[in-house]
Amino acid sequence: MTTLAGIKTIADLEVENKRVFLRVDFNVPLKKGTTEITDDTRIREALPTIRALQARGAKLVLASHLGRPKPGKTQGLGLEPAGARLSELLDCEVHLPDDCVGDGPKKVIFDLRDGQVCLLENLRFHEGEEADDEAFARALLELCDVYVNDAFGAAHRAHASVHALPRLVRERGCGLLLEKEIRALGRLVARPEKPYVAVLGGAKVSDKITVLDALLDKVDALLIGGAMANTFLAAQGNAMQASRVEDDKLALARTILEKARDRGVEVLLPSDVVVATGLDAATGETVSADAVPAGHMALDIGPESVARFAAKIERAATIFWNGPMGLFESPAFSKGTMGVATSMSRAGGFTVVGGGDSAAAVAAAGPEIAAGFKHISTGGGASLELLEGKKLPGIEALRS
Ligand code: 3PG
Repeated sequence: MTTLAGIKTIADLEVENKRVFLRVDFNVPLKKGTTEITDDTRIREALPTIRALQARGAKLVLASHLGRPKPGKTQGLGLEPAGARLSELLDCEVHLPDDCVGDGPKKVIFDLRDGQVCLLENLRFHEGEEADDEAFARALLELCDVYVNDAFGAAHRAHASVHALPRLVRERGCGLLLEKEIRALGRLVARPEKPYVAVLGGAKVSDKITVLDALLDKVDALLIGGAMANTFLAAQGNAMQASRVEDDKLALARTILEKARDRGVEVLLPSDVVVATGLDAATGETVSADAVPAGHMALDIGPESVARFAAKIERAATIFWNGPMGLFESPAFSKGTMGVATSMSRAGGFTVVGGGDSAAAVAAAGPEIAAGFKHISTGGGASLELLEGKKLPGIEALRS
């Protein structure tokens, strides 16, 4: 369900002078081999809830996961850098206990004064988190009076801090970010204004198959780019040469194209692509999608495709985008993704970007482009599962 029915928002909760457990998603990208945060969007997006609760005199106990640490290992995945960044953004001290349960954190939390903030250590350093373990949830419960979830990015995980714990707390609800995400994405599921266009990219058809299926029931047009488009082009008989193609998904791609035809959904595939002989090429060459030279691979959609996609995007009332159009991290192959970002930013419709790589691409396009979007989701997997019509454990656990 993608509505707020039965879910309290922070305005409905009594938080004054209470210890409030605030589940945030500070699972931020780090520069390879370092603890340097490369994109702090998820921390910034949590600020409105944190500030609102501080202003009401709550004692804030923030908790998050970071990465996927192996059991018993910390692997540079401590939350200290996120705490330092949060402290800068809030311009106040953020206390950092060295664990998320037990006597150490308890002492820090019980010493907090109204409006003060602490950030617990990575929840996934305890196996009980991912196991949705009730004993671990009860250890977290000892730290708080009120529970608020603002971690939309983790709402599709049935993990202890988002699933077992809230069910143990009577006074529970959603933060401002989670509320905003449910309203925006819920609008796409429940009553998308027509014409509705979905732009899907990324590497694999297999990653997007369930969302593709769900979208075919709702959209008027489907625009496909990224390496995923290679599989569709190959399924139509194009020789994609050295391009990345999922050979075992060709039949699936044909089935999707047939379903789209039966349901009257227009599918736009790239008509031109930017090719090179390797992923590390410094430049590319634009060719027709049915004339990829031998030994070359498609690494971006071409300018004609960008223009065709833009024309559809500009005339749509609702547009959802997930997945880059090419290898956008490389300047030679970023024009397709940036072209889609620019046309969505200028479009007058209700424009929504699912998180992950496409949200990172919008951030890379700059603040002016990002400001043109109606909603940029902080959730990658979570936004796709919501669009698929699934019930997300972290949202359902908040309902009364
Ligand atoms: C995300 O980045 O999508 C969320 O933080 C969830 O992380 P996970 O995929 O490691 O569960």
